Amino acid sequence: MSSSVLVLRNISQRLLSSHQNTLVPLFPLGCRHKSDVNLKDVLASLIPEKQKEVAEFRKTHGKSKVGEVTVDMMYGGMRGIRGLVTETSVLDPDEGIRFRGYSIPECQKLLPKAPGGEEPLPEGLFWLLVTGNIPTQEQAAAITKEWNERAEIPNHVITMLNNFPDRLHPMSQFSAAVTAMNSESKFAKAYSEGVNKSKYWELCYEDSMDLIAKLPTVAAIIYRNLYKGGSPPEPIDKKKDWSWNYTTMLGFDNPDFVELMRLYLTIHTDHEGGNVSAHTCHLVGSALSDPYLSFAAALNGLAGPLHGLANQEVLVWTTKLQQSLGGEVSDQQLRDFIWNTLKSGQVVPGYGHAVLRKTDPRYMCQREFALKHLPNDPLFKLVSQIYKVVPDILIEQGKAKNPWPNVDAHSGVLLQYYGLKEMNYYTVMFGVSRALGVLASLIWDRALGLPIERPKSFDTPHLKKLVGAQ
Ligand SMILES: CC(C)(COP(=O)(O)OP(=O)(O)OC[C@H]1O[C@@H](n2cnc3c(N)ncnc32)[C@H](O)[C@@H]1OP(=O)(O)O)[C@@H](O)C(=O)NCCC(=O)NCCS
Repeated sequence: MSSSVLVLRNISQRLLSSHQNTLVPLFPLGCRHKSDVNLKDVLASLIPEKQKEVAEFRKTHGKSKVGEVTVDMMYGGMRGIRGLVTETSVLDPDEGIRFRGYSIPECQKLLPKAPGGEEPLPEGLFWLLVTGNIPTQEQAAAITKEWNERAEIPNHVITMLNNFPDRLHPMSQFSAAVTAMNSESKFAKAYSEGVNKSKYWELCYEDSMDLIAKLPTVAAIIYRNLYKGGSPPEPIDKKKDWSWNYTTMLGFDNPDFVELMRLYLTIHTDHEGGNVSAHTCHLVGSALSDPYLSFAAALNGLAGPLHGLANQEVLVWTTKLQQSLGGEVSDQQLRDFIWNTLKSGQVVPGYGHAVLRKTDPRYMCQREFALKHLPNDPLFKLVSQIYKVVPDILIEQGKAKNPWPNVDAHSGVLLQYYGLKEMNYYTVMFGVSRALGVLASLIWDRALGLPIERPKSFDTPHLKKLVGAQ
């Protein structure tokens, strides 16, 4: 665990434990009674400490070097350049993601669950991402309550969604709806009225909470318009948690599916700061575009086949495989099919990663869910067989730096099993979850006063000159 994570956790635990008895130093907007189950109040107490920590760190180590940049890195998608600070999660190439220092199995164990449930509530993970602390049951419940209260979406967004043609991809509909919801942005309104910079984080927080609350309804309308004849989703039920409401609004009621959704919406939230969606949200937000605009930009990145759309691609590819090879498939048939994919110049979707060098723990926890709930499902068996065969082939081909499966190799089979078979829709669900990570980061970007992002670029002649090339 990194020392900064430890420091933040220690600070926040200290503040939380002292919270019952003492006044916290900063009040958020308005004069609400502050409380340790209110995320904004807790955040308000953490921010000054973190601001101080970063200011002191920069004062003493601001000129320290953290790496070097080579010409290959510049042409190679900036791979390996240490150029971003993201507080919410760190990705280890071998171990996978840690959310504020906690691995996925630790989150599964420690985060609050729904009554009778075994999987973590995304509400709890959001609290963890924002504060660095594992929340209590009460704190997670307070998030559920707030999101249920903030879930209403503006009429013009419903009208817009209802008028989109069926051929418009669900991700395009999703990002357009999120952009259009910036009519509700408290950040944009306050900025236009000249709000003081010190209040940016509070407005960003308010917009982020509103936006996260509204996403399941927007996403469910898209699903129902495209695949369920346009019947409106069930209204939000204040007794249900965020994932449960989303599942109901989509039109499903199997409690095991609700559990899957809690897990799915937890593990897709965050993958440190350099991935396309997280980096895009951070970049666009650095121009002080409001959280709706910043997150819509992130969704457009997530819609790319090398990023979030890979979960759709995996199912498309696996379905083609089933169609061309039939039911029972031998390992040799599978190998031939995979080699044909590679020889035709395509990637094997769901395999490889820019940072990871081992099997993605997000793949493993979905596999464990499948082993528990659907061990005999034919598609799950096929996905397991593919897992046995693909890595050796990618190693033999010798191109991919990571031959192991990522998160997208497994999510589709689980959704199929519970009846959500429309694979074009899968990335929307990824997007609903990703909001939690990138918006938690965006709040901290504004709290730490990070400036507009503007790295230096060169053209090839200048770069050649710079390195003394002929
Ligand atoms: C994720 C991904 C985009 C990472 O890209 P990257 O960091 O450039 O990966 P690498 O450095 O390992 O790529 C080196 C080469 O191996 C290839 N490669 C990587 N993963 C591959 C895969 N799953 N199948 C076939 N070839 C692959 C790359 O296309 C590249 O080929 P090139 O030299 O001809 O351009 C890449 O692994 C990929 O396309 N995977 C499939 C899509 C996917 O699952 N995306 C979701 C990621 S969470």
